[in-house]
Amino acid sequence: MTSFRVGFVQGRPRFGEAAFNLELGLALALDLDAHLVVLPELWSSGYVFSSHAEVAALAEDPQRGPTARALSAAAKREKRHYIAGFPEAGRGGRVYNSAMLVGPSGVKAVYRKLHLFEREQEWFTPGDLPLAVHKVGPAKVGMLICFDWRFPEAARVLALEGADVIAHPSNLVFPNAQEAMRVRALENRLYTITANRTGTEKRPGGTVPFTGRSQIVDPKGEVIVRAGKTETGAHAADVDLAMARDKRLTAITPILSNRRPRFYRRLMR
Ligand code: ACM
Repeated sequence: MTSFRVGFVQGRPRFGEAAFNLELGLALALDLDAHLVVLPELWSSGYVFSSHAEVAALAEDPQRGPTARALSAAAKREKRHYIAGFPEAGRGGRVYNSAMLVGPSGVKAVYRKLHLFEREQEWFTPGDLPLAVHKVGPAKVGMLICFDWRFPEAARVLALEGADVIAHPSNLVFPNAQEAMRVRALENRLYTITANRTGTEKRPGGTVPFTGRSQIVDPKGEVIVRAGKTETGAHAADVDLAMARDKRLTAITPILSNRRPRFYRRLMR
């Protein structure tokens, strides 16, 4: 068995307190026995923005900002990889709801959330980078962010790109998202790691309760590990890469190559 250990951190960040939030996330991760640790969406900033000025003030440079610096130092010290959500300062004042993959030698990749939810559409520019898969040790890892779960095309593209694992930093608000992520894992025969946050964020921009229940799901759609709704903590599990790479549902039924893309043409639009 080719195995690889992955984990997630679940907790409640304080809005606008990047240093505190990054320290908390890394402290929760510290004792976790995992090669890759996933932290929630917008972990450094918090979620409920109230103005464009606030978004601009909290937006981070993807190479030199607080998340990049804190995760790079931890990844180097602990000789492993991290993925975490952060507000990314892009060109021309644009801000993206992004996640970065960081290893011992620094930031390796950034993903910009493709499907923005609700008021995120006021604060962020929709993602403009292709869905991509990255080597993390022996594994191939793709990233999605939170509401991307509602668009099965995104997970499918990562599966077709060869992902063994989808890392899914989240601030989930719908109670059925965790169950839907089991389906994303099942239909693509890969692992998913959803790192969600807890608590209710009450700010001038709105009041948003989050659902916790972060989880790791295997290629059969089974939940291997799931946190409680309000739990603060971290969990890890083994990933069987051979299982993720075997796309046969039965000996003669390979689910990816049995697709009929000729009949899916509307998906191209
Ligand atoms: C969400 O996409 N944060 C609900």
